[in-house]
Amino acid sequence: MYCLKKITDDLTWVGGNDRRLAMFEGVYSVPDGVSYNSYLMMDEKTVLFDTVDRAVSKVFFENLAEALGERTLDYLVVHHMEPDHSFTLEEVVERYPNIKIICNAKIVTMIKQFFDFDIDSRAIVMKEGDVFSTGKHQLTFYMAPMVHWPEVMITYDTTDGILFSADAFGCFGALNGAIFADEVDFEHNYMKEARRYYGNIIGKYGPQVQAMLKKIDHLEIRLLCPLHGFVWRTDIEKYVQRYEKWSSYTPEEDGVVIAYASIYGNTENAAEILASRLWDRGIKAVMFDVSVTPASDIITAAFRYSHLVFASTTYNNGIFVSMEALVFDIVAHNLQNRTVAVIENGSWAPNSGKLIRAELEKCKNMNILENKIIIKSSIREGQLIEIEAMVDAIEKTIEKK
Ligand code: FEO
Repeated sequence: MYCLKKITDDLTWVGGNDRRLAMFEGVYSVPDGVSYNSYLMMDEKTVLFDTVDRAVSKVFFENLAEALGERTLDYLVVHHMEPDHSFTLEEVVERYPNIKIICNAKIVTMIKQFFDFDIDSRAIVMKEGDVFSTGKHQLTFYMAPMVHWPEVMITYDTTDGILFSADAFGCFGALNGAIFADEVDFEHNYMKEARRYYGNIIGKYGPQVQAMLKKIDHLEIRLLCPLHGFVWRTDIEKYVQRYEKWSSYTPEEDGVVIAYASIYGNTENAAEILASRLWDRGIKAVMFDVSVTPASDIITAAFRYSHLVFASTTYNNGIFVSMEALVFDIVAHNLQNRTVAVIENGSWAPNSGKLIRAELEKCKNMNILENKIIIKSSIREGQLIEIEAMVDAIEKTIEKK
């Protein structure tokens, strides 16, 4: 049975929610599910904005048929070809064979890579700034490459001030009946998932997100319609400002993420002492055992806070496995502008610290503190002074700011 959400007189959400997906993209847990948003505009012509993942195809086609009523589907706007939004594209074409597909040249290429249907006869190819009228509504298209794939574009409906923003401004978490962000307590209940979505899915592409933000800066956005999560009709500027911060790799607040890898608890002990001393000075610290907390959650915290401490045992003469995965992931996500400190442990040949530093030096604008704490098996009384010195160094960089 269909389950629609009306957004405006002309616009209806026809997407679906998946609460059974274990890992989004095979990497990111989605304990609260995820929504695949698709929007239908009823104008002189009917226009569908994106399709959905296969997991919700049944309800999507029921939604689409119900929202269309007696009418057929004239246009499909494709913003992004990742299959969570395009898996059902070919079936849309089969069900509505006269449909035209509004997209860009890169999307045409990708459609040919994913599907066999004839796109050339159906494609209406848009370039930067092109305008397309569907009757009352005037749609303007902007290219947004690498937010999050190279073919991505976004659409602004001048008539109602609606921005269809593709993956940008999306959020993990299924929609539990509500459709607008202001219907729920987004800041307390969803912002963490929006940050986790941003950091892990789009975080690597800060410069490209900045370029997109510049393009939309002059637009009067009254409704923000992403491909995942809620539709925004209030506080849009605040959410855009959050994207400004994240995409410029500016920490949201001062605080220290302590990520530790500890086999028998001795490295953890050093991390605990450090956290305790930081709080003694009124410096916020959050701790993560990298063998317990997924790297994606720690990356989320790394996008939020100003400082990172990596405390790792040495393993096979290298970085401990789960710490190595985290550090590589942070480098791959292009994190920048953080102050970093390293603690290493090794009972006979401590080496993890040198290797972690070498990896993090690949990131831009990382202030890697000179302080070194080298633990041989377990932290000794005489080394508490080294922990205090690390706290001093961290405090100084916070004071400086
Ligand atoms: Fe939600 Fe990049 O796809």
